Amino acid sequence: MMKEIMEQPQAISATISPRIGNDGRIILDGIALTQEELQAFNRIFILACGSAYHVGVVGKYVIEQAARIPVEVDIASEFRYRMPLVDERSLVLIISQSGETADTLAALREAKSHGARVISIVNVVGSTIARESDDVLYTWAGPEIAVATTKAYSTQLAVLDMIGLAFGEALGTVKKEEYNEAVAELQKLPEKMEQFLASESCEAIPKYASQYFNHNSVFFIGRNLDYALGLEGSLKLKEISYIHSEAYASGELKHGTISLIEDGTLVIALGTYAPLFDKAMSNVVEVKARGADVLALATESHRGEMAKTVENVITIPDTAQMLLPSLGVVPLQLLAYYIALQRGCDIDKPRNLAKSVTVE
Ligand code: AGP
Repeated sequence: MMKEIMEQPQAISATISPRIGNDGRIILDGIALTQEELQAFNRIFILACGSAYHVGVVGKYVIEQAARIPVEVDIASEFRYRMPLVDERSLVLIISQSGETADTLAALREAKSHGARVISIVNVVGSTIARESDDVLYTWAGPEIAVATTKAYSTQLAVLDMIGLAFGEALGTVKKEEYNEAVAELQKLPEKMEQFLASESCEAIPKYASQYFNHNSVFFIGRNLDYALGLEGSLKLKEISYIHSEAYASGELKHGTISLIEDGTLVIALGTYAPLFDKAMSNVVEVKARGADVLALATESHRGEMAKTVENVITIPDTAQMLLPSLGVVPLQLLAYYIALQRGCDIDKPRNLAKSVTVE
């Protein structure tokens, strides 16, 4: 798993580079959906399981913001049995590292049986999901062996970002300067990831792990993209360290769950999404007032503000808003890794788990 965490900059570069032309425009391989074809879709579905589903939650925020098309993200095992309102006006994005996940494959078949157009984002070339899709966008992450996904997750995110930008450009819903800035930041993502991996913030993560590895309940809180990122941070911690945790939209805490926050409860507060930073800060104050032990994640430009309230702050480089989860996931992967190491867990092959769930 550590090897694959460290391979992420290269994996992202391999996934992005072939898809950005010399003119700086995104090319989605052979998928050339015209403005008319895109306008013919009244809804985009993103269907997946586990971490791939968490990519879809990020994708909803990114694609809706860029392309202004309604996006519905669904857990594949739920979608396949809920008589979904999908038809020939639906564009379905299937996300799967292995391309063999039974629930995701079944959801693909359900969507196709209703006439939907299916594009899949897959890491294994020639896998069943890839073969049964109308179009495939491969994540060139290379073979991913550890059961807990890392480089597949971050390369899937990069593909979803490119889809959002490409659709937004075709539909004219993304301003040219925003598009150019986002594409430039996308190309800098590998070096910014390397920058974080070489940073003091990164070096401090094993120390935080030795402080927190004995907790038996952890909350990841955040808003918008930070909430979507928290879903993946929570699953990483659960699946390799066996610590129960949950990701919560921090604005939702006061509607019940905050009753669980007591003296010493560990809360991982994700505050990288600038437009809601002040709201995120007020939620940090709320949980601290109830005795929570807070470890925060912030961008360099918000580190000072966060440090006024939180002692332990992990900092990531600033980047385009839509790319924040791509950088923010790395510290959360490493935190889960070092906590699991402290707990003596089998990190690469966690108990009860398979790399590809090919059964229901
Ligand atoms: C992620 O760390 C897990 N191993 C699991 O949630 C995984 O993402 C899920 O089973 C989906 O697998 P897939 O991407 O191969 O379809």
